[in-house]
Amino acid sequence: MKSQDVKQIQESVRQHYADLVKIDESCCSSVTCCPDTDTNSSAEKNGYTDAQISSIPTDAAEHSFGCGNPLEYTDVQEGDVVVDLGSGAGIDVLLASQLVGESGSAIGIDMTPEMIEKARQNAEEAGAKNVDFRLGEIESMPVGDGSVDWIISNCVICLSPDKHKVFEEAFRVLKPGGKLVVSDMVANNMPGWVRTAVSTWVSCISGALPEDQYLGSIRQAGFEDVQVLSKSAYAKMGPVEVASVKVAAVKPA
Ligand SMILES: C[S@@+](CC[C@H](N)C(=O)[O-])C[C@H]1O[C@@H](n2cnc3c(N)ncnc32)[C@H](O)[C@@H]1O
Repeated sequence: MKSQDVKQIQESVRQHYADLVKIDESCCSSVTCCPDTDTNSSAEKNGYTDAQISSIPTDAAEHSFGCGNPLEYTDVQEGDVVVDLGSGAGIDVLLASQLVGESGSAIGIDMTPEMIEKARQNAEEAGAKNVDFRLGEIESMPVGDGSVDWIISNCVICLSPDKHKVFEEAFRVLKPGGKLVVSDMVANNMPGWVRTAVSTWVSCISGALPEDQYLGSIRQAGFEDVQVLSKSAYAKMGPVEVASVKVAAVKPA
């Protein structure tokens, strides 16, 4: 992809999420970042339990823009360091902060200043001291080498125009034996014209890779045990299949 196109996509994504959080409207109620299955709140739609939803500020639950609940597929322990790629309003960072406790930390990275601001407000309201929201791009993470136990992400890597760089960066920052667990969108048989449309890129469709390419890109970055843990069909239009997948991978010890 040309560098001009990369910049245009990134700017459109940033503007889209800045607008979304400013107009105080959930992704699920307006655009297609997450399965639109019923009339419950965004967080309920995305698979969080009632106990999880009631343990965080309402604003963080209402601004859940993901396509799953990645922590459900982890075994995060007290003292661990968790990094959430594209942390949005902070839902997964706040939930991770409860698991890692005071001796651990939960770090969110997001490139949209408005999202970082909202996430910091939510962390303050939650009284979470072991969280840190960092403004930055997941293609060049503001995180040190080999310093992280878990990388999680929820419906974000599909928005990146350079997914291979994201997986290389995830590999760099993880400790040996550290794990990547992501919820994301994949799409098979997408026509070429949709793949280049910025309007559907921002809503997690155009940038979604075919599943085999997505898994291949993770392996190419050096990860082992790359597995699809679960998959939910999201839309089927003729030969085009869009799905939400939960994927796990390990950095060799
Ligand atoms: C669909 S929302 C998901 C937010 C959050 N993970 C959740 O589940 O609510 C996508 C988020 O990723 C951020 N984002 C998209 N591309 C990014 C990139 N390349 N680097 C950093 N953040 C990015 C956006 O600013 C937005 O907050």
